[in-house]
Amino acid sequence: MIELEIFQTASDAAHRVAELALEQVAARPASVLGLATGSTPIAIYQDIVRQVRAGRVVWDQVTTFNLDEYVGLCASDPHSFTYYMQQHLFGPLGMRKQKWFMPPHCGPDLAQIAPRYDQTIADHGGIDWQLLGIGRNGHIGFNEPGTPFDSLTHVATLSESTRQANAAWFDGHLDDVPQQAVTMGLATIMAAGTIVLAAFGESKAWALEKLLKEPPTPAVPASVLTQHPHVLVIADQAAASRINALAGRAGT
Ligand code: GLP
Repeated sequence: MIELEIFQTASDAAHRVAELALEQVAARPASVLGLATGSTPIAIYQDIVRQVRAGRVVWDQVTTFNLDEYVGLCASDPHSFTYYMQQHLFGPLGMRKQKWFMPPHCGPDLAQIAPRYDQTIADHGGIDWQLLGIGRNGHIGFNEPGTPFDSLTHVATLSESTRQANAAWFDGHLDDVPQQAVTMGLATIMAAGTIVLAAFGESKAWALEKLLKEPPTPAVPASVLTQHPHVLVIADQAAASRINALAGRAGT
């Protein structure tokens, strides 16, 4: 079941998502969180860092698993999601290396070893709370349109539109955006206890409309979430501009 909350601004919506993460950690200090990258989570992570530093919750026992990582970019590469996470969350919170995980993304035989990420997640008791962004074409993680709903962590080939959307992170150089990434699969994501999807900005309006109004289809990967028992979508007004009467609860 999907619940929807709409907020006036992206900043209000980000604050709400941070609150949800903090409530999760307050209720279960040893929570296993699934995390996302991209522009959407930046304000969410800033808020979490501020509140953890202010003593709102203790973060020491939290373990995190990221959704995806580009194939072949090392942790020290400023374009890698590992670098992003170190900059926005792991570093500021002083998280120890053994408490955070990225999908395997370097070295040979990636296609073969990628599903081991699901095993590592299971070995940690599974993901309690998963944060998602959403791509303009409805992708989650790097599960592009057409990805089977029963997919586990795998090597994905990125669509042209996804590479274009992410080119901004590579100084606008499309050729520098990797062609492939390792991503949690849709079944990996669906195994999380609670899922919170954050959608900010008008560019997400089409994907959000498809997710909330159309029957589930692999053509819109995020639509798999309609089959999950506990999903909360936090949107700003711009992202929710194509949805009217569907709002479950309007934020302030
Ligand atoms: C990338 C990531 C997704 C993210 C999406 C949207 O493709 N793999 O996890 O949700 O971009 O990113 P943004 O928040 O920058 O719009």
